[in-house]
Amino acid sequence: MLKGKTILFGVTGSIAAYKSVDIIRRLIAEGAVVNVVMTEAACRFIPPYTFEIITGMSVYKDLFGDSFSHINLPKEADLLIIAPATANTINKFACGIADNLLTSIWLAYEGVALMAPAMNSRMYRNPIVKKSRVELSGLGVRFIGPAEGGLACGEEGIGRMAEASDVVEAAITALTPKDLAGHRILVTAGPTIEPMDPVRFISNRSSGKMGFAIARAALRRGADVTLISGPTSLRPPDGAAMVYVESADDMEKAVLKDLRKSTSLIMAAAVSDFTPSVINKSKLRKSEITTLKLKETRDILKKVSVQKGKRIFIGFAAETGKNIENAKKKLKDKKLDLIVLNDVSEKGAGFGVDTNIVTIIDKKGSAKEYSLMKKLDVANIILDGLLNLKA
Ligand SMILES: Cc1cc2nc3c(=O)[nH]c(=O)nc-3n(C[C@H](O)[C@H](O)[C@H](O)COP(=O)(O)O)c2cc1C
Repeated sequence: MLKGKTILFGVTGSIAAYKSVDIIRRLIAEGAVVNVVMTEAACRFIPPYTFEIITGMSVYKDLFGDSFSHINLPKEADLLIIAPATANTINKFACGIADNLLTSIWLAYEGVALMAPAMNSRMYRNPIVKKSRVELSGLGVRFIGPAEGGLACGEEGIGRMAEASDVVEAAITALTPKDLAGHRILVTAGPTIEPMDPVRFISNRSSGKMGFAIARAALRRGADVTLISGPTSLRPPDGAAMVYVESADDMEKAVLKDLRKSTSLIMAAAVSDFTPSVINKSKLRKSEITTLKLKETRDILKKVSVQKGKRIFIGFAAETGKNIENAKKKLKDKKLDLIVLNDVSEKGAGFGVDTNIVTIIDKKGSAKEYSLMKKLDVANIILDGLLNLKA
């Protein structure tokens, strides 16, 4: 995702400096070249040697060591990340003090900047620090975190540096071209659960990973995303408007509510086809459950197809076996623009895994088969398809 990108990575004097090792490793794994700049205080918390080992390059520390690195490093960078960002450096950035290599770089840098603050809660809430954050946000700096929780000083509260995965996600988002800007995409994901009594339900094996990958890829590409999700254990993608639902009925209501403001609908949820005919108010005794009576749920795509207008509708067909004819029929019946067929019985495809094997069929009936790939890559192919339909 970051191949060919050069990231200038500033580390400042916080106990969270050790966490930047993991962030930098992940950025390198995504293909980025990472130049590390450390403040004097940062070097008290973690030896520069650690970063030299993981990047395979010298660490920049001294404003007067390598003449013009404060001018040349920012010129070569596609992105500047400061993680952890101390209160001191945030304040200096906000008022333009350039008294070390990192703060001098900041004044010569003209691109996108991300900052992951880490500090004690009282420092974070300090009005001067707050003013600096507001000032920098106004200049386009994107702050990631901080989170609430246990702090290194032993106190609890806001000030924990964001997780490595969140910083890397923000970096990828910052560097991904925004070809979906202006699109408002409604994505559904996960299973639905259909209660039979207060403790039992019927459901399916959907993990939500495919829908969440679509939401994440669309956000990276600049779309506004509403993600309607059945129960899953997945972390919501940063920036998505999340709507959590349980039953097929809830999901239908949520789709109908959000469709109006959407330009596209991608139904990746595995909506239950059946629901118990009766929901018992109290827990059924074992002896009472000899037969479970079911009724069909309403078909959400069919129901919303009357409101399609110029919207793009993309659906999924999870099949056991490559049943292309069935998928084509579903595409036609539900007035879809594209249907994504996946054979959930194939190894590496379908529920719970991070990969998928899909065939994408369009309205003209042409079917394109793809080999095993990450769900995030499948998501991007689906979004490319959406863009092509729009063009
Ligand atoms: C043990 C210890 C932990 C510290 N942790 C933080 C921190 O998490 N965040 C912060 O803003 N300052 C922290 N400080 C204070 C900074 O290190 C100090 O303000 C320093 O001048 C920051 O310099 P820099 O911004 O140039 O890196 C800590 C200081 C000590 C002694």
